[in-house]
Amino acid sequence: MKILVTGGAGYIASHTNIELLNSGYEVVAVDNLSNSCMESIMRVEKLKGKKIHFYRADILDKQAMQSIFDQEKIDAVIHFAGLKAVGESCSIPLTYFRNNLSGTINLLEVMQEFGVNNFVFSSSATVYGEPERVPVTEDFPLSATNPYGRTKLMIEEMLGDLYQSDSSWNIAILRYFNPIGAHESGEIGEDPNGIPNNLVPYVAKVAAGVLEKINVFGNDYDTPDGTGIRDYIHVVDLAVGHIKAIEKLSDNPGLVVYNLGTGVGYSVMEIINNYEKACHKKLPYVVTARRPGDIAISYADPSKALRELHWKAEKGIEQMCEDSYRWQSKNPNGY
Ligand code: NAD
Ligand code: UD1
Repeated sequence: MKILVTGGAGYIASHTNIELLNSGYEVVAVDNLSNSCMESIMRVEKLKGKKIHFYRADILDKQAMQSIFDQEKIDAVIHFAGLKAVGESCSIPLTYFRNNLSGTINLLEVMQEFGVNNFVFSSSATVYGEPERVPVTEDFPLSATNPYGRTKLMIEEMLGDLYQSDSSWNIAILRYFNPIGAHESGEIGEDPNGIPNNLVPYVAKVAAGVLEKINVFGNDYDTPDGTGIRDYIHVVDLAVGHIKAIEKLSDNPGLVVYNLGTGVGYSVMEIINNYEKACHKKLPYVVTARRPGDIAISYADPSKALRELHWKAEKGIEQMCEDSYRWQSKNPNGY
């Protein structure tokens, strides 16, 4: 089976490419390299000793997408391509709407044209807005608090309408919680441009001596130590979830939605403590103001994915921190 992976050079995609190759799938990847580089593709090929058919193209470019579908006989698409920085999405919302929404519409139109109707979509726990309680189940009310989140929510709604119009589509919407860590080889990992926005990539750069100290965004939340709690999931577990979703699509399930998380929440201070164990040093931090828009606590109820996909996160927080640190120390400047 041949899988088209959009955003195929990115962080989660590169780990998913490895799992796809492990499971015997052929991988066709498309990426405009706006937030990634070819090196991640080459490293995956080297690790697995297999080729990825890579196309440097923009999903907004319909002709380029048509020519990929023309050349390759695609069976299913995993759609990672998108812009993902919340803060940036508030400054340049139209860029986010064009890239994420128009890009997805283009892709779905080309799929329709070529009769490809198996689709896995990278959604996010951000679609739950500020959840009323935890753990979060898939039937919780949805909302968006920023343009990035709105693109995820709008795409989910678009996919619902598409499925209503034509039930031959098979669509798996995967709502990721907080992916962190890296492949155990230390050869591929998260490589953010500039100063990281997210906690663990920031902590990794402090541990590697690239940044001076961690800013803890608020310690007055209603949580045991006052810092925000999230459901961190090892990116390799998350990648395996995509293989399970592809397998599920072959049963013609229609439109299905799954949380991919561990079901366990860790606070910012617990992450720092675990990371200190992984890197064997004290990590300097200061408590600063809350980050606007942040919520106190969010973690998944992942039981639906266990029941229906037979998938469960296996790797614990120690391994997440160790693997993150291995990648960061082997590649202090990224790829
Ligand atoms: P990433 O930036 O590493 O990967 C996205 C890739 O898409 C990049 O390689 C980028 O160059 C590419 N891309 C963007 N726009 C494109 C376009 N128009 N045409 C072709 N390629 C394009 O991000 P990631 O962390 O691997 O995230 C992958 C997906 O998962 C995204 O859709 C993101 O919103 C979603 N997601 C990520 C997280 C997270 O915390 N990392 C959480 C929830 C959901
Ligand atoms: C981020 C995204 C969200 C996405 C989610 C899943 C933002 C604002 N939100 O949320 O859209 O769905 O990832 O991957 O980017 N923190 C610090 N110091 C830092 C960075 C973060 O204390 O330098 C704290 C935050 O307040 C939060 C926790 O660490 O409590 C995790 O933050 P982060 O890694 O940015 O993830 P989310 O806020 O969950």
